[in-house]
Amino acid sequence: MGWYLALTSILLLAVQCCGCGKVLVYPVDGSHWLHMNLLVEALHARGHQITVLRSSNSWYVSQVSPHYTSITISLEQPQHLEDPACMASFLSRSIEIRRNEGTVGSFLAFYSELFTLLEKSHKSVTDMLTIMLENKTLMQELEESQYDLVLADPAFPAGAILAHYLKLPLVFNVRWLPNGADIWLMRMDFTFEYPRPTMPNIIYIGGFHCKPAKPLPLDLEEFVQSSGDHGVVVMSLGTLLGNLGPEISEVIAAAFARLPQKVVWRHLGPKPSSLGNNTLVVEWLPQNDLLGHPKTRAFFTHGGTNSLYEAIYHGVPVLGIPLIFDQFDNMVRMKSLGLAEVVEVTTIEVESLTHALRKILDPEKPYRNNMRRQSQLHHDKPLKPMDSATFWVEFVMRHKGAAHLRSESYKLPWYVYHSIDVIILLVMSGLFLVALVCALCACFMKTLTRRGKVKRE
Ligand SMILES: *[C@@H]1O[C@H](CO)[C@@H](O)[C@H](O)[C@H]1NC(C)=O
Ligand SMILES: *[C@@H]1O[C@H](CO)[C@@H](O)[C@H](O)[C@H]1NC(C)=O
Repeated sequence: MGWYLALTSILLLAVQCCGCGKVLVYPVDGSHWLHMNLLVEALHARGHQITVLRSSNSWYVSQVSPHYTSITISLEQPQHLEDPACMASFLSRSIEIRRNEGTVGSFLAFYSELFTLLEKSHKSVTDMLTIMLENKTLMQELEESQYDLVLADPAFPAGAILAHYLKLPLVFNVRWLPNGADIWLMRMDFTFEYPRPTMPNIIYIGGFHCKPAKPLPLDLEEFVQSSGDHGVVVMSLGTLLGNLGPEISEVIAAAFARLPQKVVWRHLGPKPSSLGNNTLVVEWLPQNDLLGHPKTRAFFTHGGTNSLYEAIYHGVPVLGIPLIFDQFDNMVRMKSLGLAEVVEVTTIEVESLTHALRKILDPEKPYRNNMRRQSQLHHDKPLKPMDSATFWVEFVMRHKGAAHLRSESYKLPWYVYHSIDVIILLVMSGLFLVALVCALCACFMKTLTRRGKVKRE
């Protein structure tokens, strides 16, 4: 029996490791890493060997993990986009600026804030890449490791540059910005995005991080059950943002206190004084499990894509309070699909917020049914998004890239890509035609006047 077990487990291991590959991951920290880590876990579970590049001051990418080995690059400067304190101050400044919206000054101030933040982030990404490329030992180690591919996040181009340097196929895990690359794992699904034409190396994996809900911790389950038929509202502002400042928090707490529902609110910072006894404030919440709970009636969110896909997956209608980056755009989509309402953070007050919350919670209104239908559409596909993602990563390993799926466009010089050469030719031909017609007309007129003269004479 023991023999038999040992043999089968060896066989199983051998089978599992047949197509095993080595993947070098160059992630972007923060909420981007949450996606990447899920993909890393899935690839690890399928027997692949994963190495993750991280900086010594990373907030979220831990050095030790059961799913990957890491290579840590020493960096002294903090990475701005990923530092919670830095993001909090960016958020409060951008809300301040948006309060004075409409003036040219506020427009310029907002973009100067944004570009400063992006510039600092690019600077730290460049620093890390420079340190890596200049370290001959490290580069030699990476080359000798013979990875099958680089899995990168193209929010910053460092991963792509490294893949190019190591001459390795490249798989992107991304929501937007398509150009270059063997395979693009697009975190998009058409229950959320508008239809568009794309190339065959674009693989849609929107919602790949969503999972069925697990049971809640006991105390939370008790609180949720105590809501009775009214159910609960869940509020969270995502990984990076947890605190909107005392003024706005008071407004939100007061609006929650007026609801017959119970509320679970992820809120960092001091407790608002207007907090009702129906509201549970927590520093962290199991968002996916709460959204999947049958008592959950609505989700009050900043409108990050992770959260919105979880809401679609579980069919929970949304009230959005977009704060920064793509969150405005995301919420406009959700609203246009009849899945959500939006409140504006700079003009928020108790009366209108309560009204918006009641509207979303009202079973007579279409939000809940629309969301259920959208959720059914999202679930109805031949391959789960995560399986699709791992399939295509392994496809790139098996075939050492996916050049046959790439369009020719990435090889074209910029002036050909934008048809500048064609435009110049057409404009020149047009000008030539006009010049020709003008010259002919001039000739004709001359002949006419000469004939007229001859006749008169
Ligand atoms: C270069 O990389 C090697 C191997 O990862 C590491 O041990 C070494 O400390 C690095 N050198 C510098 C100057 O960062
Ligand atoms: C909660 O507050 C409401 C209204 O302020 C009050 O009627 C109710 O008795 C309170 N419930 C508990 C359990 O304190």
